This record gives sequence, C-alpha cells and structure tokens, in this order.
Amino acid sequence: MNWKDALLKIDFQQNTRLRFGEPLAKHTHFGIGGETTAYVEVNTIDDLATLTHFHREWKVPVAIIGKGSNLLVSDKGFNGISIRLIGELANLDIEGNIVIVGAGQSLPRLSKMMSKTGLSGVEFALGIPGSVGGALIMNAGAWGSSFGDVVTDVTVMRDTGELIKLTHDEAQFEYRHSGLEAYFCVISATLKLQPGDVDAITTHMNTLFKQKIETQPFVEENAGCMFKNPPGDSAGRLIDISGLKGHRIGGAEVSTVHGNFILNLDNATANDVLDLVAYIQKHVQEKTGIFLQTEVKRLGFD
Ligand code: EPU
Repeated sequence: MNWKDALLKIDFQQNTRLRFGEPLAKHTHFGIGGETTAYVEVNTIDDLATLTHFHREWKVPVAIIGKGSNLLVSDKGFNGISIRLIGELANLDIEGNIVIVGAGQSLPRLSKMMSKTGLSGVEFALGIPGSVGGALIMNAGAWGSSFGDVVTDVTVMRDTGELIKLTHDEAQFEYRHSGLEAYFCVISATLKLQPGDVDAITTHMNTLFKQKIETQPFVEENAGCMFKNPPGDSAGRLIDISGLKGHRIGGAEVSTVHGNFILNLDNATANDVLDLVAYIQKHVQEKTGIFLQTEVKRLGFD
C-alpha cells in the first residue's frame, strides 16, 4: 500500500477534510506554487496527533501552512501533506485579560476581537494577514511590537503527538524568529493583554492599519516583507537606494511603494520570485555591502 491509500484509510473525526492534488497557489497570499500531494484541514488535536504518527510511520514530509501569508511554494509543488489548522485548533477563549488562542486563528480577526473586548496588545496585528501559529513561529511584528511580547506560554505538539507547554522564555522569541519551529506543530498560546478602553484601542488599531496601507502594497498578491531587516536598518530602504523598485523578472516585480515587497503582478512563478530575490541580494550587496537574508518561508524546494 502506498502512503496515499493509507492516508485515505484514516478515520478522521468530523470536519477534518482531506483532498489530494490541491494547488497550493490557492492557499498562499503570493498565489504561487504547484500542487501538494495531500491537503488536510485538521479540526481536532486528536486528528493532528494521528497525523504525527502517520508522518513517522510513513516518513512522509508534513508542512503546516497556516494562512500561507509568508510562504513561497515551489512551482513543482510539495510532495507531502500540507496541513491547515481549523475548528478546535483555531479556538479563542477570553478570561479577563488572559486569552488562549489556537494556532489556526487568524491574526487580523484576533486583533479585531481584542479591540471589541477592550484588550490592548495586539492592535498592530490587524495588518498582518497570517495565522496565530505563523505569528508565533516567526514572532511576527509591526510598528515596534512583536507577537511574542504578549505571549506568556505556548503549547506545542511533538512528532510523537505529545503536547508540551513552553514558557515565554522557552519559546525563544527573537526578531522574526523563535525556537518553535523545532516542534511538529504549534497548537495554541496564552496571551496576557492590558485591559483598556474599547474606543481608544480600536482607534489605535485603525491608525496602525492606515499607516500600513499608506506605506505598503496591499492590493497585489505578495508574501509581506521578503527580507529581514539588517540590524539598525530597513531592507526596504536599502533596496530603494539600490534603485531596484519596479525591477521586474517574469511576472514578479519589486513594489514601487515599499522596496521589501515582491509582487506577483502577472502569473509569476516561484522561479521568477527566486531570481528576483537573487538579483536584489546581489545588487544591494554591491551597492551597500549588506547581504539581505530572506524572511519568507519556502516549501517544496530541494
Ligand atoms: N523606506 C524607504 N524606501 C522603501 C521602504 C522603506 O526609504 O521602499 C524607509 C522608510 O521611509 C522608513 C524606513 O525605511 O524611513 C523604515 O520603513 P518602514 O517603516 O516601512 O519599516 P520597515 O523596516 O521597512 C518593518 C517590518 C514590516 C512592518 C513595518 C512597520 C521587517 C522586515 N519589516 O518594515 O514587517 O510592517 O516595519 O512596522 O521587519 C514583515 O515582516 O513582513 C513586514 C512587512
């Protein structure tokens, strides 16, 4: 029996959905990428644990793709199982100023819900179209705040299916990085937010969102900032002074609004994007002496 037949035989709980040959372009903000062999929307912790056992038994690669907002998928797709967390894994429980949020929850939705509840700390997240799990792993941030700042603990699943709770320090949050990638999957986080005035929090959230849409592209398909900022500088500024805004390879173009965004303007392929990334790295290094490291995650590349 091959692994696809074995996967079909799993008796998943209600609402966990399995499909084969799903185009990942549909599930990434870049709108780029070939098919994943299997795509599972996982509704429960038990089903996720079942998939950890399957992953170990069949040695099939597994990728948790979140909302696909910070992801470049190769043109030949991903030979493995792509997982999106839904249902029980996207829960939101509020008790006073303590919030437990599932990794599958949307970051903008969390931001809006917290503003309506009168809890401050995630106003910056309205403009980051990712999942909570992705935001934890990447320590997503904007306007001087990072998601890890409000996290008191994180529950993760090992590839044995075992759940463990990590403290804030054990999660090892750094600039656009954490230690959470070492685990099979991030399940949920506990956030400690500050009680405040609903109107003031909502105004703050909307002001930050306005700032985002005034300084960053938001209509064209993109994966957010392509490069990490080098210490003390902005990758976008370095790309800008290197004269690369508007530079195009195939269907991929450096945004003319903010240099750190690559846009899929005209059916760009993943190769177009990677060629443009290499072009930017080369020219920024020649011009400024700084080599820009990419921030966007990759899937399906050798
Ligand atoms: N700048 C330019 N030209 C450009 C872009 C920026 O001159 O094309 C200048 C700006 O005028 C400003 C400075 O560079 O003086 C910094 O720009 P900005 O405020 O846009 O911040 P950034 O450092 O470029 C970071 C994050 C963004 C986040 C913004 C807002 C990274 C890699 N980028 O960008 O995060 O939204 O701050 O806080 O950390 C992301 O991580 O995906 C992302 C978009």
